[in-house]
Amino acid sequence: MKIERISEEGIDRLVDCFYAKIRVDPDLGPIFERVVRGKWEPHLATMRNFWSSVMLTSGRYKGAPVPAHLRIKAIQPPMFDRWLRLFGETCDELFEDEVAEAFRVKAARIAESLKLALFFRPELIAPGKSS
Ligand code: HEM
Repeated sequence: MKIERISEEGIDRLVDCFYAKIRVDPDLGPIFERVVRGKWEPHLATMRNFWSSVMLTSGRYKGAPVPAHLRIKAIQPPMFDRWLRLFGETCDELFEDEVAEAFRVKAARIAESLKLALFFRPELIAPGKSS
């Protein structure tokens, strides 16, 4: 049966299932293997805290996603579509429609702001106009 409410247990399952998919994904898997390598358990714990903070406002996540992603030079904008597709599929497998949609909407917004932070460089569009 699918999960009907947002809960810590649901978030634990989501994080486990999503990163199991990520690890074997031909585009995203190698990036994670390089960066996360032997530290999967701490990464999954961080991601449980992150989603708990986002969806249940628990305040458990204390990190900074933008610098964490800025360090990963291999990230390209189209990879965000792939990330969101896998995330959305996992949500649909685990959650009732409304809950799945709530996760998907948040993820899409955060992905958009991460993408802007990583790739939007006003100086590339209007060189010399930034001063
Ligand atoms: C192209 C898409 C993405 C890739 C390749 C990617 C990759 C990664 C990797 C490799 C890490 C581990 C960094 C480290 O341990 O130093 C990480 C951390 C993280 N990612 Fe992503 N990510 C992507 C998109 C997203 C999106 C869309 C979200 C949120 C909706 C997200 C949220 C996070 C968070 C919260 C962390 C933990 C940062 C911290 O250390 O506090 N990521 N990501």
